[in-house]
Amino acid sequence: MFYPTFRARRIRGKEAFRKMVRETTLTANDLIYPMFSAFGKGIKKEISSMPGIYQQSIENIVEEAQEVHALGVPAVILFGIPETKDAVGSDAYADHGIIQETIRALKKQVPGLVVITDVCMCEYTDHGHCGIIKDGDVDNDSTLELLAKEALSHAQAGADMVAPSDMMDGRVMAIREVLDNNGFNHLPLMSYAVKYASGYYGPFREAAESTPQFGDRRSYQMDPANRLEAIREASMDIEEGADIVMVKPGLPYLDIIRELRNYTNLPVAAYNVSGEYSMIKAAGKMGWIDEERVILETMISFKRAGADLILTYHAKEVAALLKKGM
Ligand code: PBG
Ligand code: ZN
Repeated sequence: MFYPTFRARRIRGKEAFRKMVRETTLTANDLIYPMFSAFGKGIKKEISSMPGIYQQSIENIVEEAQEVHALGVPAVILFGIPETKDAVGSDAYADHGIIQETIRALKKQVPGLVVITDVCMCEYTDHGHCGIIKDGDVDNDSTLELLAKEALSHAQAGADMVAPSDMMDGRVMAIREVLDNNGFNHLPLMSYAVKYASGYYGPFREAAESTPQFGDRRSYQMDPANRLEAIREASMDIEEGADIVMVKPGLPYLDIIRELRNYTNLPVAAYNVSGEYSMIKAAGKMGWIDEERVILETMISFKRAGADLILTYHAKEVAALLKKGM
């Protein structure tokens, strides 16, 4: 008869042992909550594919942000749904644009909360692409100027951090330069460094009303088949001055999170995107999975893969579960 000399189960037998040898932890400090700010008053419209997530006007954003802050979630990231869209996304860099006004309201009424802004054009352009269109495609270099203007106007409105998500080449440098030249050399930049052209963004595009009106984003977002390219993208953004690098989506790209963790000593963020959220919500609603358990397991998988920060629509639920000691 053979008996194992090493018995892995010895230190699994009691919850106290399991806690003692646990390799990865999750806290509310790891979380960033995405919010959708809509032009108008009295708006609180649930996204049909994202139960619990709303397009909201500023007063309701402030109210929910207070709740987020009270739960111990340190930061939100803002997306805007402007009153009007045009070919050059004017509202994105307007002094009194939807995001600029939302930043001011939040910094005034929830000053302890970190306000991060998504810097991109797709929510503000009538064609829904992430930049200026020339000859049927997004033109890189003319888009850079607008992204820099947008980031600066967010900074001037009081944003604590900017997060470009457009995937133009050179945007980190363009934004960094404008910020530094205008007295914002202390403002951190979190780059959506590794962002794949993904089907998992579907529900977000309903939430942000940012579906491209023609074509898709494959000429600027990354091919899901590529791993080495992720390191090239991240290394460029790091050279250009990114303070935090992000991988997006999250769950289907845990290997890429680990690649970046091993490549850089900068903080790494994972974006647990809309489609990932919707799938858990749908399966939970059907009773097919234990929703709370799956949410926490998903969060710990990002931490184990090497992420320091998790952008997630589950942030409030996770913080509440952690408070309950789960
Ligand atoms: C905009 C942007 C997108 C997301 C974040 N910023 C959508 C896209 O690129 O189409 C996706 C977030 C999500 O799906 O939760 N550039
Ligand atoms: Zn975009």
